[in-house]
Amino acid sequence: MTQASAPGKVYFFGEHAVVYGKPAIACAIDLRTNVGVKSSRDDSVYFVSNRKKIHIQRSPYIHETLKILSENYDIPLSGFRLIIKSTLPKASGLGSSAALVIATIGAISEEFGLNISREHIASIGHEVEKNVQGRASPTDTYISTFGGVYRMPDKVRLPTPQLTFVIGDTKTSSSTKELVEHVANLRQRYGFVDNIINAIGELCREGERYFVKGDVERIGELMLMNHSLLEVLGVGSRKLRKLVDAAMEGGAYGAKLTGAGGGGCIISITCEDRVDEISDRIKRCGGRAYVVHPTDEGLVL
Ligand code: PMV
Repeated sequence: MTQASAPGKVYFFGEHAVVYGKPAIACAIDLRTNVGVKSSRDDSVYFVSNRKKIHIQRSPYIHETLKILSENYDIPLSGFRLIIKSTLPKASGLGSSAALVIATIGAISEEFGLNISREHIASIGHEVEKNVQGRASPTDTYISTFGGVYRMPDKVRLPTPQLTFVIGDTKTSSSTKELVEHVANLRQRYGFVDNIINAIGELCREGERYFVKGDVERIGELMLMNHSLLEVLGVGSRKLRKLVDAAMEGGAYGAKLTGAGGGGCIISITCEDRVDEISDRIKRCGGRAYVVHPTDEGLVL
C-alpha cells in the first residue's frame, strides 16, 4: 500500500486578516493525517478512527482533490480505496482538511508515479480548499506541505521556536466559510473594521521579530492581544475565552484561538514544566487538552 502523511497547523498570529492580504504566522504541529492508497473495486474512503466507510464522492475534499488531479494528470478515478488515519480533530482550526488533502495528493502522486513538485502539491491543495470552502488562504495547505513556521502569504520561512503547545479544544466545531463571511459582512457595515484588520497585520509584523530572537514571552504577549482583536471581529466565543483564561492562569506565556474561531481550539504556548497545570485547568473548564510541538516535517512520502 502506498502511503503519505501531512501535518496540521496552528496560527501564532493573523488568521482572518490574512484573507485581506495581511501577514500571518503559522506553524506545523506534530498531529498528522496518514493516507494509504490500495487497489480495490469499491472506490471508497475508509476512516480508521471510527471505522466508517463512504464512497469517494461523499467526501467533498477527496472528491475535489481527485477531480483536479484527473484534469491535470492521467490518473484513474476509480479502482482504489483510500485509508485515512488521523490524530487531528476535525473542523477545529488545526488544519485537518488541509492535512487530508495534502496527504491524499502525496499518496496519489506516489501511487501513479506523477512526481508532482511540492510547490505544485501545495497549490493544488489550495485550489481544492478554495473550491470546497468558497474562500481560503494558502496558509493551511502550504504549511502542511512544507512543515515549519512561515510568514504567509509571502511564504517567508521563520525559525521554529523551542516551545510546547497546550491546545484546548472547546469540543464544538465551527464553519470556516461562515466565519469568514461574518468578517466580510462586518467590514461592509463598519468602515473601522479595517483598522482592526490592519492592527492584526501590524501585530504580526512586530511578532516576527521575536521569532528571530526566540523570545517566547513576547510572542505570548502578542498572541493574547491577537485573541482580543479576533473577539472584536466577532469570531471569539465564551468557551474560547474561558480556555484562554484557564491557560493563562496555568502559567502559559500566551494563548489565543487558532483558525476560524467561533468554536474549535485555542493554542497556548508554554515551557514543558507548566504543561500539566495548563492541561488540568483546560479540562476543568470543560475543554479537551492536547500537548503538541512545532514540527519541521511537512508532507512525508
Ligand atoms: O479554521 P481553519 O484552520 O480553516 O483556518 C481559517 C483561517 C482563516 O484565516 C479564517 C481563513 C483562511 O483561509 O485563511
